[in-house]
Amino acid sequence: MASAASSTAPSVARDKVHGVAPLRAGRGTSFALRRLHSLSGIVPVGAFLFEHILVSNATAISGPDAYARQVSFLANLPLVPLLEFFGIWLPIAFHALYGFYIWYRGDGNAVEYPWTGNWMYTAQRWTGGIAFAYILWHTWTMRFTGVDLHAYPNASFGKVQAEVFQTPLFLFYVVGLIAASWHFAYGIWLFSAKWGIVSGDKAQRRFLALCGAFFFVLSGAGLASLASFRSRPHQLYEPGTTAMQSAQATKNQAANDHAAKNQPVKNMEGR
Ligand code: HEM
Repeated sequence: MASAASSTAPSVARDKVHGVAPLRAGRGTSFALRRLHSLSGIVPVGAFLFEHILVSNATAISGPDAYARQVSFLANLPLVPLLEFFGIWLPIAFHALYGFYIWYRGDGNAVEYPWTGNWMYTAQRWTGGIAFAYILWHTWTMRFTGVDLHAYPNASFGKVQAEVFQTPLFLFYVVGLIAASWHFAYGIWLFSAKWGIVSGDKAQRRFLALCGAFFFVLSGAGLASLASFRSRPHQLYEPGTTAMQSAQATKNQAANDHAAKNQPVKNMEGR
């Protein structure tokens, strides 16, 4: 695998360029694909990660009921399979596979990652790789195997708990979460530099600090959700438990409860 230093050394020596070079037009398909790779990291992949950690999974902090309501809300969005395929899986697959290709080629358009040397360059690649392994496993176990959480949202909390109660898997969650948070937070900075949104040495330094703070917020919220799964009593979701009531049954139950509550009080005088 080509290294950052080996592929960029000649141009560094020639141009004495510092910082992250903007993406330049006129490089045909490769330019368009680099732009698409860069953009896909923010929307939709980054936007999805933001929602997944800071909105949906953060509801787990409030406990199993709040978490089940959020899963049920997501499962009832219109056209879920299409949203998942075109809004999540396809963009992640493109960003990841093209990311591995960029890594393999060693042709980052970062001529020299500033201030901290090339380790940020390396960290961006390794955190992407770790996130990829984590995402594959997490999607497989949560979405495609075991209880279908779209049909049984009440089983969600217990299903996650069954994994995070196993220490090796819990550690995998922690490592995957931190890798994805780092990759996204530093990716926002890279994106802004490459697209010329934040330019100038001073402004870029300040923005780097902001992205660092965002990393702590994102990973902190994720760790707080994980702590909630680990610390609450295990929610069972075996057949016959209320967790395994289907989404439809839960809805019917809620409708019945609502109707019963709103029934007019019997007029005792009218008997
Ligand atoms: C958790 C899901 C992911 C998110 C939210 C994400 C987000 C981002 C963002 C915002 C960027 C900055 C865009 C830019 O360079 O202009 C980026 C860059 C990058 N991503 Fe990802 N990414 C994810 C997963 C992956 C995976 C699985 C890989 C596979 C290795 C990967 C490889 C890369 C590479 C190599 C770069 C740097 C490109 C460069 O320096 O030119 N990413 N990512």
